[in-house]
Amino acid sequence: MSDSTGRLTILHEIGFTLSERQSAAIVGASGSGKSTLLSIIAGLDTPTRGTVKLAGTDLFALDEDARAEWRARKIGFVFQSFQLLANLTALENVMLPLELQGRADARERATEMLRHVGLSERLGHYPRVLSGGEQQRVALARAFVVRPAVLLADEPTGSLDFATGETVMQLMFDLNREAGTTLVLVTHDRAIAARCERQLRLEAGRLVGGGDPATAPPPAAGALVPDLEPAAAAATGLTPAGDCA
Ligand SMILES: Nc1ncnc2c1ncn2[C@@H]1O[C@H](COP(=O)(O)OP(=O)(O)OP(=O)(O)O)[C@@H](O)[C@H]1O
Ligand SMILES: [Mg+2]
Repeated sequence: MSDSTGRLTILHEIGFTLSERQSAAIVGASGSGKSTLLSIIAGLDTPTRGTVKLAGTDLFALDEDARAEWRARKIGFVFQSFQLLANLTALENVMLPLELQGRADARERATEMLRHVGLSERLGHYPRVLSGGEQQRVALARAFVVRPAVLLADEPTGSLDFATGETVMQLMFDLNREAGTTLVLVTHDRAIAARCERQLRLEAGRLVGGGDPATAPPPAAGALVPDLEPAAAAATGLTPAGDCA
């Protein structure tokens, strides 16, 4: 990745495999690369070197359109900055991914999901009149509503009070258990991290904890395999790949 200061290596030595239905927390200091890693797993950022495989599909072997379509079908993404569409109401924001899939019941399902996150009274409101926590809940509802195979959430409870955060976390773990959704959460909250089966720790762009055990079995059909670095990959028996700048 380049900016005015030239080339900057943000992530390296990242290699891990998550099984279908697993939950993982990505933890680490501010600036350690958590959001960047999440974007790469979603195929929103492209690594300079390396691969991400989901259920056997190499994300970066797809062209941009195919990747976008694949993402819409398989992945729910909650951005750190919410990224709601300003000219759509809360309900319309949540209906959008369902409409893109051509679902006739988009309105009912979106309404139900907003009820789940406690926003039944806010369906017709635009993002600019919603509080930060309310916007975060709309963003969560939009990500959940398609029942994605993988849910990627960047500090999903960062703007929520304790009780609402609990409700949202419960929703995520319910999705994980009932729909088999693989969860990958960025969090600074130790209690939330501890509720995940895996804790992936980043330090200055490197995976320093929670990688695959040396004896890890080969990834199953539904596995998520980001593999961005040769050394760690060799250690875990995965195909060596690249790093990410
Ligand atoms: N597009 C970009 N251009 C230049 N630098 C970038 C870009 N995106 C991210 N970075 C840098 O990469 C590093 C990792 O950023 P990232 O947003 O992934 O951190 P983070 O772990 O999510 O931090 P936080 O906890 O504060 O959200 C930071 O130093 C950031 O400034
Ligand atoms: Mg971040």
